[in-house]
Amino acid sequence: MTIFAPNGSAPWAELAGRLLIAGGLVAIPTETVYGLAASVFNRDALRRVFSVKGRPMDNPLIAHIASAEQMDTLTRDVPEAAWQLASAFWPGPLTLVLPRAACVPDEVTAGLSTVAVRCPAHDVARRVILAAGVPLAAPSANRSGRPSPTRAAHVLAELYGDIEMIIDGGVCSCGIESTVFDVENRCILRPGGVTKKSIESVLGSVEVAPNLPQTGAPRAPGMKYRHYAPRAPLHIVRGPAERMAEFVSAQSEPEHIGVLCFDDERSLFRAGVVRAYGPEDDPEALARTLFDALLALDETDVTVIYARCPDGDGLAEAVANRLYKAAGYSEIHI
Ligand code: TXA
Ligand code: MG
Repeated sequence: MTIFAPNGSAPWAELAGRLLIAGGLVAIPTETVYGLAASVFNRDALRRVFSVKGRPMDNPLIAHIASAEQMDTLTRDVPEAAWQLASAFWPGPLTLVLPRAACVPDEVTAGLSTVAVRCPAHDVARRVILAAGVPLAAPSANRSGRPSPTRAAHVLAELYGDIEMIIDGGVCSCGIESTVFDVENRCILRPGGVTKKSIESVLGSVEVAPNLPQTGAPRAPGMKYRHYAPRAPLHIVRGPAERMAEFVSAQSEPEHIGVLCFDDERSLFRAGVVRAYGPEDDPEALARTLFDALLALDETDVTVIYARCPDGDGLAEAVANRLYKAAGYSEIHI
């Protein structure tokens, strides 16, 4: 396996492109999280993506394109709304669910009649797509169910030995995944880097699929699985931070307790393994640091994690969405 930091003169993009065409798997940086890329047209490579990740075959992949014009190669009957969103938010953290073209393999779409498409903003990702000459299917580069990687080191720790190449493009600037938007039904299936308000500034009012433990049929296949979870069970704690600090101190082995808190509360916690992930009123910082903090707590020997969760809309809602899934919706009121 090769690891490249694309700052020297090595032809990393060309090498990655050739590996991908030959059926290789390459982890690439995007502005949201690292992706595990495969050629969108190589069925063997796509199947390997599922097996390396341990991903259920009924959870479809996002196809990454280098520019909006490439949308036409994977979709059909693209509504005007999709072009409007593409021109407003691409390249960037917005994924559009659209009717699929016949050339898109079932491995990408999990047999659905739609395909998810996004044009990433990270220059390294776009250069690799151009070098491969085909769109790249790229789920987050973690084992299924685990927190998404926001640094090359996270990918290395998780997928070492199972993939051909990792390109180190530094820390992901957004830190949580793209917003997945079902264009036909005008519905946000997964909140993410582009907020509801921003989408509404282009399209007028849109719906948000509820972030609840699934009972009925999920609208995005990925919604029904446990996600983003560290090894230790995680619980969201509601109530004043002072009370949460007392609650942690009162536990029998506080050194085995992980705490994920806001920057401004850090000094309240005198026991536990404490990670602050940003100021409560700065959802961009929280999004950027969330997975890194969860993965860092995983490196310690904590057996449980108690987490503070932001309220509000926009990016705060996207952060809360990831935390609730990581917690399996477990919430403690103190
Ligand atoms: O930011 C991102 O989107 C990252 C980076 C690497 O681009 N990728 C990512 O991929 O988060 P993944 O596979 O972890 O999540 C893809 C999500 C899943 O929830 C999946 O169910 C949904 O997109 N999805 C994919 N195709 C779909 C479709 N045709 N209809 C509905 N949901 C779809
Ligand atoms: Mg994922």
